[in-house]
Parts: sequence; structure tokens; C-alpha cells
Amino acid sequence: MEKVSKRILSGVQPSGDLHLGNYLGAIKNFVSLQKEFECFFCVVDLHAITVWQDPKILKQKTREVAAAFIASGIDPEKNTLFVQSQVPQHAQLAWIFNCVARMGWLNRMTQFKDKAGKNSENVSVGLFSYPTLMAADILIYLATHVPVGEDQKQHLELTRDIAQKFNSDFKTDIFPIPEPLILGAATRVMSLRDGLKKMSKSDPSDYSRIMLSDSEEEIQKKIRKAKTDPLPLPDNIEDAKKRPEAINLLTIYAALNDLEVEKAVANYAGKEFSQFKKDLGELASAKLSPISLEMNKLMKDEKYLDSIISNGKERAINVAEPVLSKIYEIIGFFRD
Ligand code: ADP
Ligand code: TRP
Repeated sequence: MEKVSKRILSGVQPSGDLHLGNYLGAIKNFVSLQKEFECFFCVVDLHAITVWQDPKILKQKTREVAAAFIASGIDPEKNTLFVQSQVPQHAQLAWIFNCVARMGWLNRMTQFKDKAGKNSENVSVGLFSYPTLMAADILIYLATHVPVGEDQKQHLELTRDIAQKFNSDFKTDIFPIPEPLILGAATRVMSLRDGLKKMSKSDPSDYSRIMLSDSEEEIQKKIRKAKTDPLPLPDNIEDAKKRPEAINLLTIYAALNDLEVEKAVANYAGKEFSQFKKDLGELASAKLSPISLEMNKLMKDEKYLDSIISNGKERAINVAEPVLSKIYEIIGFFRD
């Protein structure tokens, strides 16, 4: 198998509207990485159905993520942009990885514990084995680098363990050991209502997150209403780190402006939150509204989006199929 040295795969679930955490933690980085890497960007609908998805809207949500990729600046000609369920090799390799990964490894996954909560007897088996499918997404393309938000680090470590165990069990070096790329100032964007909770699609409060689809007014209002403590802005980064809501807003400011967080802290040291929030609201709406406008435009052109998705499917299969054939041969399965 030909070795590749700079290939990226990453995925985003079509399980709800995209928020600022998805943008700053993942999609914004995809845009800059496409210059340097060969990239595969995937809408992971198989992952989405680990919890219930309404069949009437799943396709639309899938198109929406594809539209968000393109509207954010990912070039669908240069990169392979595709939908996971259309490339059967992901699920085929995931089964093999279910037989490589150990129960103990999966039992340690904190995302499963968070998502299942007290309900662990009643969640789907898929939610538990979710990380083996993620490993398959990455390794079926022999990807070497994976840009993700901080919350996915543990899943990436599991992917590396699976690649290593497969290589060593079958005495092969087929799989690279992929590196996580956790980039930018905002690797973990927190809720606007609670600086200790991750910004997420599942938070019941709309005011906890900024959506890519929010209007300029909505963005500014959410930032104006964001929780803060009563003090002026911190003087230095050490103090900022002790104040979860302040550091979160400063981090968002830095990431949107491509600055170091230290620089954002220095710019606003000792100032009042009212002025900072006004500036942040304007910055966020200026950066995000072109994306949301372009997304709306793309969403009206279903034919175009579907043609991108169908083209991506073909390109993805062309890479995934020979890798799966090789894996079948290594394991001792029949393959014509
Ligand atoms: P979810 O939004 O439900 O966590 P996704 O599959 O849509 O799950 O996440 C897509 C990408 O967005 C992943 O790389 C994930 O790490 C990143 N991401 C999600 N939430 C945040 C957040 N609050 N801060 C930074 N990155 C995030
Ligand atoms: N598990 C990731 C999340 O919830 C999404 C994902 C699925 C992914 N497959 C992937 C990310 C492969 C990177 C690479 O955010």
C-alpha cells in the first residue's frame, strides 16, 4: 500500500444546528489546513443515529453540514466532501475494529459516560461503540492527521491504540498512527450561560450557544446576555484563567480575530464588560454572518449540494475500497 504523509480526515455530525464551538474547534481549522493537506471531510450520519434522529429531517441536516463546510471556505473541488453512510467501507472496517478494541478501552471513554449519564442500560449499543466507527472513519483513508476540538482527544487516543494493536496483531504496518490537530485559541468553547460547561447542541438553553444560522441581532443579543462576573475584565492571563466566563469570552474573541488569548486579555485589561461585549458581538456577527448568508444560499440549491455529495462519495470510495481489500487480505477474508 502506498504510504501517504499528509492526509486529513475529520467529521461533523448532522445531529443539530452547528454552533460556534463546531466552527472554532473544527471547521475554521479545516479551512486553513486544506492548503497544506489532502483532506477528506465527512458528514457523519452513522454517528448521528447513535441517538434518535427524525427521518424526515436527517437528510436536510446532512445537507446543512455540507453547506456549512462550503460556506466557511472549504473548496469542494480540491477536497473530498462526502457523507459517511454512502461509503460502506466505514461500517465494514468499524466491525473489524469492534473485534480489535477491548471492552476496557471503551469503558474508559468519558464522552459515553457523559452522554449516557444514569441511563446507560437504555442507550444504544452504537453509542457505546461509537469510537470504533470513528477510528474506522480515519483509518479507512490511512489518514495521518485529524483536526478536532479538545473533547475528541480521548477518541483519537483510542484510534491510535486500535491502529497499533491491529498492526501488531497482524504483523503489518498498514495503518499510520494518526496525530490529533487541536488548533487555534478556542479548542473548547464553553456555554455562554455557564463557563464550566461545554457549548453543545444538546444544551436546553438557546442562549448558551451561538448558532451559525443566527442573525446578526441574535448573535449580539446572546453575547450581551452572556453570563459574566461583576468585576472588570482581568489584567492578566493568570487571573483570566480563574474566571471561567471571562476567559471563555476572551478566548472566543481571540479565536475569531486569529490572536493569542494573551493579546486579547492585554487589549481589554481592566475595561468594563459592556464595551468588550459590544466589540465581541460586532466581531462575531461580522465573521459569522457571511457564512450564514452563504449557507442559506447554498441550502436553496439542493441540486448543487447533492452533486457535491455524490461526487465526494465516488472519490471517497476510490480511496477506501483498495484499503479495505488489503485489510481483508491481511485478516484472511475472501475478496474478489
Ligand atoms: P457535537 O457538536 O455534538 O460535540 P460534532 O460531531 O458535531 O459534535 O462535533 C464536530 C466537531 O466540533 C468536533 O471536532 C468537536 O471536537 C468540535 N466541537 C464540538 N463542540 C465544541 C466546543 N464546544 N468547543 C470546541 N470544539 C467543539
Ligand atoms: N466524534 C466526533 C464528534 O462527536 C465526530 C467524528 C466522527 C469525527 N468521526 C470522526 C471527528 C472522525 C474526526 C474524525 O465530534
